[in-house]
Amino acid sequence: MTWLSTSQRIAAEALIQQQDTPFFCYDLDKLSAHVKPLVDQQIVKLWYAVKANPLSHIIKTLDNAGFNFDVASSGELDQVLSQGIAPERVLNTGPAKSLKQIRHFATQGVRIFVAESHNQVRWLNQVAEEFELQFEVLLRVQLRFDKAEHNPLGGNTLTPFGLGAEQWQALTLSDYTYLDFVGLHIFQWGNMLCSDTLAELWQAMVAPLVQLAADLGITLKVLDLGGGLGIPYDRQSPSLDWQKLLDTLALIKTATQVQELWMELGRYAVGECGFYLNPVVEQKQNYGEQQLIVAGGVNHLLRPAVTGQAFPAELLRQSQAEATDFHIHGPLCTALDKLGTLVLPSDSADGDWLVFSQCGAYGYTESMPFFLCHELPAEYIISGGEISCVREAEPASSYLR
Ligand SMILES: Cc1ncc(COP(=O)(O)O)c(C=O)c1O
Repeated sequence: MTWLSTSQRIAAEALIQQQDTPFFCYDLDKLSAHVKPLVDQQIVKLWYAVKANPLSHIIKTLDNAGFNFDVASSGELDQVLSQGIAPERVLNTGPAKSLKQIRHFATQGVRIFVAESHNQVRWLNQVAEEFELQFEVLLRVQLRFDKAEHNPLGGNTLTPFGLGAEQWQALTLSDYTYLDFVGLHIFQWGNMLCSDTLAELWQAMVAPLVQLAADLGITLKVLDLGGGLGIPYDRQSPSLDWQKLLDTLALIKTATQVQELWMELGRYAVGECGFYLNPVVEQKQNYGEQQLIVAGGVNHLLRPAVTGQAFPAELLRQSQAEATDFHIHGPLCTALDKLGTLVLPSDSADGDWLVFSQCGAYGYTESMPFFLCHELPAEYIISGGEISCVREAEPASSYLR
């Protein structure tokens, strides 16, 4: 069974006639259809976590759908503002908010911040005073749960994302007269695929968060549950049921008595809209195993190397050859440059193209494009059924100095 829709396959087949290096394609028609039901509800206010994919056209599509924007750096902020988005619709999260960055955000009109440390609270107050502003602040809380599980967002391990409830207890809100503490933020679990597990984790947060808010004297207007909604990267994994999640969120809203629930979605919003086309350079047999060397590796798609999870891939050409396991290696001189071990037709070989799906989030900008001086991948969009190029493939000479 293919991951590509018919229109995506037609686009891919047309594009490989013009391209001989790897490229990304984002299906904005699919993205618009996917996000419509996400925003079409009154239970949770949605922000787009720009880090998942900061491409201008993706931001504009989510803006049209009614998303607000969560940015974690000055670069992300500038990109969002240059798409014409008002700074009042921007939230700033992230563990490294320097005074310089906070000043930049303040001058650009951002007024909502997630504070991840006592220093950040102090610096936010200092900048708000300097500019005679009032900032809305959520404190990011890092809890420990009974159900320990390794997770890229930290799970139960020590991370720089926020502080434990005990550390926050030392905060005296009245010391920060330029800050309006509107609520709490919590997000520790990435790429969750089971609605029941998510419901359990969220339910388990209610009591400690409500207690912390009471201890600090915060009236919980807002509870931000971050991101973490997953997408399947293989055929065996389930997909989340949005309606079921909304039912759970409605219960959380009642249990915490908050006026607003927020989430910043990255992967779940945009992950499924993108695919990546990658030419096969060579097939070889080695120690009895089949290997494919492909033109683009972790220089364009880093995620498999850091998570150990492959993006799903298939041969673009139709083949009747029997399926076999192939180790897929990129072009970098490190064994880490492996895109996975994937089942592909046994006649897959040089001249073929592999298409990797679910690459709309944490693809291009999460990767390490400069190592070994290969081309930067081109980026295409499909919008209104038309394909257009947003970025041509760029040779190493475009970035080497
Ligand atoms: C604060 C914050 N919110 C939201 C997200 C988006 O997460 P996801 O892509 O799992 O939705 C991230 C991702 O790292 C994050 O750091």
